[in-house]
Amino acid sequence: MAQISIFFGSVYGNAEQLAEQVASKLKEKGHDAQVIAEPQMDDFQMAEELLFISSTTGQGDIPPNLEGFILDLQSRFPLLHGKEFAVVGLGDSSYGDTYCGAGRSIFALLEELQGTAKAPLLQVDACETLEPAEEVLPWIDEIYG
Ligand SMILES: Cc1cc2nc3c(=O)[nH]c(=O)nc-3n(C[C@H](O)[C@H](O)[C@H](O)COP(=O)(O)O)c2cc1C
Repeated sequence: MAQISIFFGSVYGNAEQLAEQVASKLKEKGHDAQVIAEPQMDDFQMAEELLFISSTTGQGDIPPNLEGFILDLQSRFPLLHGKEFAVVGLGDSSYGDTYCGAGRSIFALLEELQGTAKAPLLQVDACETLEPAEEVLPWIDEIYG
């Protein structure tokens, strides 16, 4: 059993709803999963494993509810010493170069902080998937044994 803290970035609620669905799935699998609504540095540092689920807004930007925390991580740079993480990016490929920009920058930051990726970034394209959980829950099953 793992303790997994789930951080979400969401403007219209898709990623937030997905975070709740993922938490239920992880609990069903016997893990201790917690969705963190207002992340503080302690939530990040005390977590056994990290899972970020973020949509992209603007032009490749992180949603406002998560942006301040990510800026905090960038400036305080708390090293992860190999702690495991995973990232799900929600986006829309019709945005071209900024497709899943938030998920990509969060993934890159967690690598810079010396975390260990459990899997490559999962990018979910709103052009192809109306219901992100259909793609994400089987992926969760696969990477969290
Ligand atoms: C104003 C706006 C800007 C967006 N910009 C991007 C973008 O730059 N890249 C991308 O991949 N998706 C972009 N999207 C698509 C969203 O990331 C996608 O619809 C996502 O499912 C929204 O999830 P949320 O409800 O959790 O915010 C944008 C959507 C809106 C409405």
